[in-house]
Amino acid sequence: MTTGYRKNTLHMEDVALEEIAASFGTPVYCYSAGKIEQNFNAYRQALSAVMSSDDFTICYACKANSNLAVLRLLQKQGAGADIVSGGELYRALKAGISPKKIVYSGVGKSTAELEEAIKRGLFQINVESEPELEMISRIAVRLRKKVAVAFRVNPNVDARTHAKITTGKKENKFGVDIRYAPALYARAKQLPGVVAAGVAVHIGSQLTALGPFRNAYKRVADLVRLLRRQGHDITRVDLGGGIGITYKDEIPPDLHLYALMVRDIISPLGVHVIIEPGRSIVGNAGLLLSRVVQVKKGRDKKFLILDAAMNDLLRPSLYGAYHAVVPCEKAPAKTIYDVVGPVCETGDTFLVNEKLPELKAGDLVAIMTSGAYGAVMASNYNTRPLAGEVLVKGRKFARVRDAQTVADIVSKDKIPGWVA
Ligand code: LLP
Repeated sequence: MTTGYRKNTLHMEDVALEEIAASFGTPVYCYSAGKIEQNFNAYRQALSAVMSSDDFTICYACKANSNLAVLRLLQKQGAGADIVSGGELYRALKAGISPKKIVYSGVGKSTAELEEAIKRGLFQINVESEPELEMISRIAVRLRKKVAVAFRVNPNVDARTHAKITTGKKENKFGVDIRYAPALYARAKQLPGVVAAGVAVHIGSQLTALGPFRNAYKRVADLVRLLRRQGHDITRVDLGGGIGITYKDEIPPDLHLYALMVRDIISPLGVHVIIEPGRSIVGNAGLLLSRVVQVKKGRDKKFLILDAAMNDLLRPSLYGAYHAVVPCEKAPAKTIYDVVGPVCETGDTFLVNEKLPELKAGDLVAIMTSGAYGAVMASNYNTRPLAGEVLVKGRKFARVRDAQTVADIVSKDKIPGWVA
């Protein structure tokens, strides 16, 4: 199930990565179906141990990896979806996920996106502001629907994660200030198109301690009790994203302890629990397979130049995130490299001063833990085609997205007559 060396050759499940590179070229994202299923089931089992399976829904956060094959795999395991755009709604439905298991989050939903979501009858729309609430009600009335909504509250809790992925502090753009919630639920009651059935919270991603979750959940539980005293029928709580994962040496919280915390804080409310894990389902199930293009000696440094770049995996450039680079043929580490991509930016650097085996042009390496926020954040910068994606299951592997061609990228450009 795991990715590791067999006879010194790196395998994902039972497939040697060099076989994938030979079939499909590089760079290419590879995902282990077995690992994705295992990660999903770990959530299900942990929550099932503390509550009945009717009492929770795991809505996989599609933004982490929205490949249709990944979504279908999870749908077959019973997952719902957390979506943040009309595009993700399209994907989730196409993967066969029931609208009744889809939660729509997102800080700026357009009229067209809301219309589509309301027509489809999603499980819940998470509301980010009073004007959005009013807009949802107006559209729902026009479509003769009644929409279940939850306000996403901002509890002003520090998630103690990277500043760019912290979302639950008062200075962040997300959610409504928890202190204004009573007024907003009262407003919702006056509107004909909505039923405020839940409270939602998400304080950030890649959380490696339970404390911030606990603080946020306690505030949410207090709010639910307050709202009930004020006569609101709150039947659902959406606890946002999942736990962090190991990229280097982080020790993520134990899922069983997470589940016990949910039981202690949330279960006494007797609500339906929604969680929206993304990274912890797909992150460590994926890698970005790449070839060494060149080894270049600088004045003081050796650069390992890969055929993968920041446009394929933005996390190191954007967040300074660490992703291990592992050679596909095992050998003792003895050379210090900066591992970089070919894009014309100094920021196109995966690792600085990393000790690796001696490598040469043509060698294969895996950029690890790239299953979440990898392919989905890719771009065409430098007119580099989006890389293909491959799903592995046991000895089987299949392309689940073809690599783009340069012609694909350029096909949407047009030269107006007055320029030509
Ligand atoms: N729910 C909501 C409302 C979210 O905003 C997010 C992530 C999730 C769930 C899923 O969180 P997870 O289980 O994956 O931690 N691009 C960044 C991560 C951005 C996360 C945005 N929201 C990165 O590469 O680290």
